[in-house]
Amino acid sequence: MSIIEIRGVVKRFGSITAVAGVDVDIAHGECFGLLGPNGAGKTSLVRMIVGVSPITEGSIMVDGRDITREPRLIKAQLGVVPQEDNLDPDLNVLDNLVTFARYFDIAKEEARQRALTNLQLFELQDRQRAKIEELSGGMKRRLLIARALTNKPMLLVLDEPTVGLDPQTKHLVWRKLRSLKAQGTTLLLCTQNMDEASFLCDRLAIMNEGRIIALGPPQELVRKYGGSQIIEARVRSGERRDLVLSRLGKQGLQWQEIEETIYVFQGDGQVLDQDLLSELVITNQHIPSLEDVFLKLTGRSLKEQ
Ligand SMILES: Nc1ncnc2c1ncn2[C@@H]1O[C@H](COP(=O)(O)OP(=O)(O)OP(=O)(O)O)[C@@H](O)[C@H]1O
Ligand SMILES: [Mg+2]
Repeated sequence: MSIIEIRGVVKRFGSITAVAGVDVDIAHGECFGLLGPNGAGKTSLVRMIVGVSPITEGSIMVDGRDITREPRLIKAQLGVVPQEDNLDPDLNVLDNLVTFARYFDIAKEEARQRALTNLQLFELQDRQRAKIEELSGGMKRRLLIARALTNKPMLLVLDEPTVGLDPQTKHLVWRKLRSLKAQGTTLLLCTQNMDEASFLCDRLAIMNEGRIIALGPPQELVRKYGGSQIIEARVRSGERRDLVLSRLGKQGLQWQEIEETIYVFQGDGQVLDQDLLSELVITNQHIPSLEDVFLKLTGRSLKEQ
C-alpha cells in the first residue's frame, strides 16, 4: 500500500491556480522528490498533504486515512520541515524541542532525552541554551529538521531543507536523511537543487505551473529526456537563425532556445552534419543532467527562475 495517495488535487488562491490537478502515489520507505522552479506549486501541494492548507479539489490519503477527515491522527505520524522558519523566538534551542514534544503528549523526561539526541544528530548540542536569534540560518534549518524528528515520524516532509546551507552542512543533512531512510522513514522532499534530488531521491516528480510534467527515478528521467549529449551553441549569422533551427528539426534533433543560446539534445547515434556545424559556434558540450530534462520539457532553466 502507498503511504500517500493523491487524486485530482487542485489548489486555488482566488484566481491563481497553484496546483492544477495532481495524481501520484508515494510508496512506503521511498524518498520522493518534488523538483521545480519558484512558483511551481511544490509548497502548496505539500501543505495540503500535511493538513495545514485546505484542498480545493480532489483527495489526499496518508497511510490509508483521509487528511481532511482525520488530520489529527495523521499529523501524529508526520514530521514537517516547513520552508519558512517557524521556531519560537521566545524559547532557547532546547526548549523549542521540549515544548514541541507537548503536542504529541510525550512525557517531560522523554521529551528532554529525544531533544538532546536530535540536537546531537544535527551537531547542535553545544547551542542548546542559545536563543533562536543567535543562530545562523544554517543552524536554524538544522534545528527545524531536528524538531521534526521529535515524534519519530514514519513520514518526514521537508520543504527545501538545505537552502542556504554551506556545502559541508548540506552534506551532513543529506547523510542524516539517508540514514533515516535506511531506518524505514519515508521522505517527501521539495527542492530546486538537482544534486539534492539526484543524491537522495528514489523517484522524482518534476513540477511546473502546478502540474507534474515528468515522473520517475532521476537517472531514468535523464536517460529518457536528456539524450546522450547536450550541445550549446550560437548561430554564426543572426539572419540564418530560422533556417538553422528548421534544419535541426528536419534532422530529427530536438532543441530549446534561451536568449541567444540554442541547446541541442543529441540522441544516441545522432550527429550534426558538417553543413549545420559550419552554421554554429559551439560554446559547450555536456552530458545531460536533470537541469537539461527541465529545459527540454519547459524551455526554461530551473536555476534562473
Ligand atoms: N497563500 C497564498 N496566497 C496566494 N497565492 C499563493 C499563496 N501561496 C502560494 N501562492 C501562489 O501559488 C503559486 C505556487 O506557489 P508555491 O509556494 O506553492 O510554489 P513553490 O513551488 O513552493 O515555489 P518556491 O520554490 O518559490 O518555494 C505561486 O503563484 C504563488 O504565488
Ligand atoms: Mg516552496
